[in-house]
Amino acid sequence: MSTFVELVEKRRSIYVLGTDSEYAQKEIETRIREVVKQVPTAFNSRTTRVVTLFDGANENFWNHIYDIQKEVLEGEMWDMMSGIITGAKNGIGTVLFFEDKDAVKEMPAQGIREEAYKQNNNANAQYAIWLALTEMNLGASLQHFNVGYEQGFDKGTKEMFNLSESYEMLAQMPFGSVEQEAGEKEHIDTEVQVKVFNN
Ligand SMILES: Cc1cc2nc3c(=O)[nH]c(=O)nc-3n(C[C@H](O)[C@H](O)[C@H](O)COP(=O)(O)O)c2cc1C
Repeated sequence: MSTFVELVEKRRSIYVLGTDSEYAQKEIETRIREVVKQVPTAFNSRTTRVVTLFDGANENFWNHIYDIQKEVLEGEMWDMMSGIITGAKNGIGTVLFFEDKDAVKEMPAQGIREEAYKQNNNANAQYAIWLALTEMNLGASLQHFNVGYEQGFDKGTKEMFNLSESYEMLAQMPFGSVEQEAGEKEHIDTEVQVKVFNN
C-alpha cells in the first residue's frame, strides 16, 4: 500500500505498453467508473464523459487516428507520433475524454469562465484516472489526436462509437502494462513552484 505522494511520484508518461496485467477489463472499467463518479466539477455540473476502449475498439480507434494523422504529419513529427500510435495499439485499452457541450452550456458561466471550467472539469478526470491506472500498476500517457470540435476533427471518432454529436473530444489516454520505464525527469525548485505566506 503506497501513500498518496508515492502514487503521485510513481505516475509517469509511459509510451511502450503491453497487455500483461493482474486486472481484468471489468476491474479496470469499474475503477474508472468509481473515479469519474467522484471527480469534482464546477457547480457539480458533471460535464465530463469518458469512453473506455478495449480490444477491437481500441485497435479500430488507433487505426482511425493513424490513417488521419498519416495525411497530416510529416518527417520527424510523423516518426514520433506513429510510434505513439503503435504503442497505444499494443496496450490494454484507451480512455477517451470528452466534454458534453450540452451539459457545458447548462453551467451558470459564459465565455472565458465556461471554457476554463470545461477544461478544468476534464483535467480533473484525466489526472484522477491517470493516478487510478498507476495504482493498478498500469502505465499510461496523455494524447491529443484529432482534437478540434469546431473543425469536426473528432466527428469520425464519435461516429465510430455512436456518441452524441454534442461530445467534444479533449484527450486520449492509452494504457497498458509498463514495458519501458520513463526516464529521469527535470524538476524546478519547489520554492519557485510553491510559495507559502503566514501573514
Ligand atoms: C496538459 C497536458 C498535455 C499533454 N499532452 C501530451 C501529448 O499530447 N502527448 C504526449 O506524449 N504527452 C503529453 N503530455 C505529457 C507530458 O509531456 C508529461 O506529463 C511531462 O513531460 C512530464 O512527464 P511525466 O508524465 O512522465 O511525469 C501532456 C501532459 C499534460 C499535463
